Formats: sequence, C-alpha cells, structure tokens
Amino acid sequence: MKRARNVRTALLAGLLIGPIAVVAARRSDAPSAAAKGDRLARGKYLVMVEGCNDCHTPFKMGAQGPEPDMSRMLSGHPEGLKMPPPPPPSGPWVWSGAATNTAYAGPWGISYAINLTPDHNTGLGIWTEEMFVKSIKTGKHFGTSRPIQPPMPWQWYRYLSDDDLKAIFAYLKSVPAIPNRVPDWQEPAAPPKAPEKKG
Ligand code: HEC
Repeated sequence: MKRARNVRTALLAGLLIGPIAVVAARRSDAPSAAAKGDRLARGKYLVMVEGCNDCHTPFKMGAQGPEPDMSRMLSGHPEGLKMPPPPPPSGPWVWSGAATNTAYAGPWGISYAINLTPDHNTGLGIWTEEMFVKSIKTGKHFGTSRPIQPPMPWQWYRYLSDDDLKAIFAYLKSVPAIPNRVPDWQEPAAPPKAPEKKG
C-alpha cells in the first residue's frame, strides 16, 4: 500500500513539476536565440565601424565619387578585373591601389582583398571560427602559413576580444554568399641583381 501511495505521489509530483520543467526549458531556449541575434548584431556593428567594407567591398564610381558597391558586399577583389602591372614606385609614392580599392601593389608585392562572404568555394565557406580568430590574432594566412600582407590591418584588429572576433565571424557567415575567386597574393619580383664587377 505504502509503495502504491509513493508511486501515486511521484506521479502527482511529475504532473505538477513536468509543466514547470517544460516552461523552464522554453525559457532557457529563448535567451539562446536572443543571444544568437545579439551576436550577429554585434558582429555587424563591428564590421561596419571597423571599415571591413572599405577594402573587401569593391568600389564603383558614384555621383559623389567612388563608393562601395553594396550589391557585391564583402566579396573582395572582382575576379573579372585583371590588374595590369602596377606603375613603378616614384619617390615617396611607394604603393598603388586599384580603383575598386581591392588590389594593392607595394614593397610587399600585390595583395588582393579576399572574399569574406560565406561562399563555399571562393569565400569563407570552409573556414572554421578557430582559423578566423587565429589568422587575425597571429597575422598568419589561415592562422598557420605565410604572413598576411598589407594593407590588411590585422595588427590593430588583433586587439579585439575572442568574443568580438567570433561575433564578426558569425556575422560574415550570415551575409549573402557571392561566388568570386580572388587571386592570391603575388610576391614582389626579385630585386634586379647588382651588375657584376668587372676586372
Ligand atoms: C585597408 C584594407 C583592409 C581592411 C580595412 C580590411 N581588410 Fe581584410 N584584407 C585586406 C587584404 C589586402 C587582404 C589580403 C592579404 C593577403 O593576401 O595576405 C585581407 C585579408 C583578410 C583575411 C584573410 C586572412 C588570411 O588568413 O589570409 C581576412 C579573414 C580578413 N581580411 C578579414 C577582414 C575583416 C574582418 C576586416 C574588418 C574588421 C578587414 N579584413 C578589413 C585588406 C583589408
């Protein structure tokens, strides 16, 4: 008898606590969805104020001069724009930039702003959050290989907290994917050899 009563009590407790548990579970789902939204909003805010669009979105000529072409937001140097050899440096004019502000020639060779959209083959598609954070923190391509070239200002962005970098990555993964294959960095041509001494 006693056992049966215990079972009944347990069932009753279950009936009472069950709905509370469901409500509690719903409550804990709600903040995580909100937190996700907050994170995307934070990432968007950081991308906007840190000027990622200045280099990673190609400029077009507008009525007031060059302006970012937001229909190609964050897709990097346009693959259809093959750059001719840059003009030779002259005095303090040591570097040059494309009209799109996505290609740059200087003592570091020629660098191209990469495609930061989530396109699988040509953008951040295969990047992991860890690779992204590591590349900005260390200034190494993919977080592991060659140095990231100018004018990508990772030297300043590396002071962002891991949370902020993760928010940026989450936002970049949420923007429209644009297939656009950006050329890789070209090393500077070897400096001309000094003429051999004769005699
Ligand atoms: C002044 C121009 C400029 C700005 C501003 C800029 N970038 Fe870049 N970024 C570049 C260039 C150029 C490259 C290519 C460098 C190379 O090939 O080594 C690059 C490369 C990258 C890479 C690839 C790193 C790697 O591992 O090879 C990432 C990721 C990136 N940028 C993210 C961002 C984000 C996020 C912002 C804004 C917070 C930003 N960039 C702002 C010019 C810029």
